[in-house]
Amino acid sequence: MKWAFLHLTIINKFKFECSLIGMMLRHIISMRDFSRDEIDTILAKAKEFEPIARGKESNLLSGKIIATLFYEPSTRTRLSFETAMKRLGGKVIDLGSIESSSVAKGESLADTIRVIGNYADAIVLRHPREGSARMAAEYSNVPIINAGDGAGHHPTQTLLDLYTIMRESSLSELKIALVGDLKYGRTVHSLAYALSLYHADMTLVSPAQLKMPDVIKKDLKKQGASIRETTNIEDVIGDIDVLYVTRIQKERFPDPAEYQKMAGSYRITEELLKKARDNLIIMHPLPRVDEIDPAVDRTKYARYFQQSFYGVPVRMALLAMAMEAA
Ligand code: CP
Repeated sequence: MKWAFLHLTIINKFKFECSLIGMMLRHIISMRDFSRDEIDTILAKAKEFEPIARGKESNLLSGKIIATLFYEPSTRTRLSFETAMKRLGGKVIDLGSIESSSVAKGESLADTIRVIGNYADAIVLRHPREGSARMAAEYSNVPIINAGDGAGHHPTQTLLDLYTIMRESSLSELKIALVGDLKYGRTVHSLAYALSLYHADMTLVSPAQLKMPDVIKKDLKKQGASIRETTNIEDVIGDIDVLYVTRIQKERFPDPAEYQKMAGSYRITEELLKKARDNLIIMHPLPRVDEIDPAVDRTKYARYFQQSFYGVPVRMALLAMAMEAA
């Protein structure tokens, strides 16, 4: 009873804070829709949910159902949403493989969303087409949570990335390098937008062919972001607090031969880390392929597995918020 009361207190306080800062966050589509105050509120809420993410009992979302629709593969995003929902006492329905659903008969995303809104209180959607989550939101009568739209955005990943930085390093006066496939990597697109709100000093490290799209860089500069670009990780390794590494996004290359040329562009090794600051942390949204040597997992710098845990409390905060907004 005491715990149930505590949950009610948390959620009422949360609702109050959301209304206080004018948060109308029915759908979660892009980091560009968030203010810094809104992000700070979510991160603070995630911290309150951490004991539940670690197994403390909760019935906060008892009676609620989310639907997971993944038109692209996922391990972390799908299962951490499922864990978050179940640990909060809610239930999950899953579209399953696309081949076994009516999408295989030609059903449109708009129709699928309209139908699933009859079954669930919120929809977690991953889709290969950029802009699909925003389009789905136009047809949905329940909150849409963007779990990745092609090379577009991955806002819930960004929130857990920020949470990881907050817990394992610091968001203030942050010096960070984003490394790898900055052209197709949706996690770095979303993260760069959010980091500009925290006035982070960002270095973009990528092969010339995989640079951050100009349209994003222009937006970031308009927001006053400090960004530099280099192709050489050695230029920055001794001067950063966070090394955010990404996979080369094989599935987004129109020409497989082009992917082959880019594969293995960067590899984080113990040798490279000899030049790192003592307080450096290494993050990666995962999955990794070969961009971080497994020997690095045992070093004091590695935080990428801890980062995948932080997805649970952050997604708890988002689910609680989305349900209350519904
Ligand atoms: N980080 C991430 O989005 O992982 P999954 O593709 O496994 O969900």
